[in-house]
Amino acid sequence: MTNTEQTFRAAVVTEPGGPDPISLVDLPVVPLEPGQVRVAVAAAAVNPVDLAVRDGYMHRLGLIDQPHHTGLGWDFSGTVLEAGPGVDLAPGTRVAGLVGGLDRDFGTYAEQLVLSASDLAAVPDGLDLVEAATVPLNALTALQLVDILGDGEGRALLVTGAAGAVGGYVVPLALERGWRVTGLARPGDEEFVRALGAEFTAVPTRGWDVVADPASLQEQAVALVRDGGRFVGVQPSARPEPERGVTIEVVSIVPDGVALAGLLARTATGELPARVAEVLPLDRVDDAHAAVARGGVRGRYVLVP
Ligand SMILES: NC(=O)c1ccc[n+]([C@@H]2O[C@H](COP(=O)([O-])OP(=O)(O)OC[C@H]3O[C@@H](n4cnc5c(N)ncnc54)[C@H](OP(=O)(O)O)[C@@H]3O)[C@@H](O)[C@H]2O)c1
Repeated sequence: MTNTEQTFRAAVVTEPGGPDPISLVDLPVVPLEPGQVRVAVAAAAVNPVDLAVRDGYMHRLGLIDQPHHTGLGWDFSGTVLEAGPGVDLAPGTRVAGLVGGLDRDFGTYAEQLVLSASDLAAVPDGLDLVEAATVPLNALTALQLVDILGDGEGRALLVTGAAGAVGGYVVPLALERGWRVTGLARPGDEEFVRALGAEFTAVPTRGWDVVADPASLQEQAVALVRDGGRFVGVQPSARPEPERGVTIEVVSIVPDGVALAGLLARTATGELPARVAEVLPLDRVDDAHAAVARGGVRGRYVLVP
């Protein structure tokens, strides 16, 4: 018997683009379907996409059409409360995962979450849940971006926004695939970027075999690619126009619990970074969004319900 009369608290977008867009609401606990897991959320990261949803950008593009409210939050960590039919996960198991897609009425900014067991992974001992919540969206995006890049064979790759959340994973993962990596970041990020093993530049220069663009510089970054080279962006809804024979590719993340398990394991050993800027309670979601909107944040704001 599931506790269907109970409710849980979530932060959702009720007025996209409005003056007070986010509300805390009580939502009903629903029964699990086969293959699903109910998680007690311990921490949820604040990502740039959440600000775009809050501001109504995705609604205006026609990518979200929710009648009542739109869910916020993509990645999370927590503990299993209940496993649905066909799922072998004990209550209390520490997990992290990703909710994909934009057009949804639920998200990870919540006390509870129901998602497919295939979209999460166990959090290894030695990695705390706040750190684990910063991994899924950005590390998986970077891994899937680097899969698009393929093997570098010594070719020159510029990673824009190399000190950002996605860029900070693209750099080490691309180095492993044999790219000669230079990170474009702010002058104050030099030490961080070099510590990842990349060359560093604060000045965009031209002539790269490939540019990966986590800073979302878009056309400006396409202009840095050599004639006939490749650009890999991170904005599926705003694909830059090709020029000079440059191939344009764009990553669009899909949840992948198996790949996430590997990334969490590598974060637990310290091989990959886990960067937390600040931890705030869920009811201070507006403050977290305001801080991220100001820019210059290194590491993720994390909301704790
Ligand atoms: N396609 C997908 O599936 C997918 C998935 C995840 C994320 N994304 C997108 O990926 C983008 C990056 O996300 P993120 O979480 O990594 O953001 P982030 O942590 O804010 O990183 C972006 C970085 O780029 C830097 N930057 C911006 N302009 C720059 C410039 N001209 N020169 C040097 N550095 C510059 C920023 O520095 P400052 O902070 O100092 O400006 C920041 O360090 C976002 O647009 C996000 O929506 C896409």
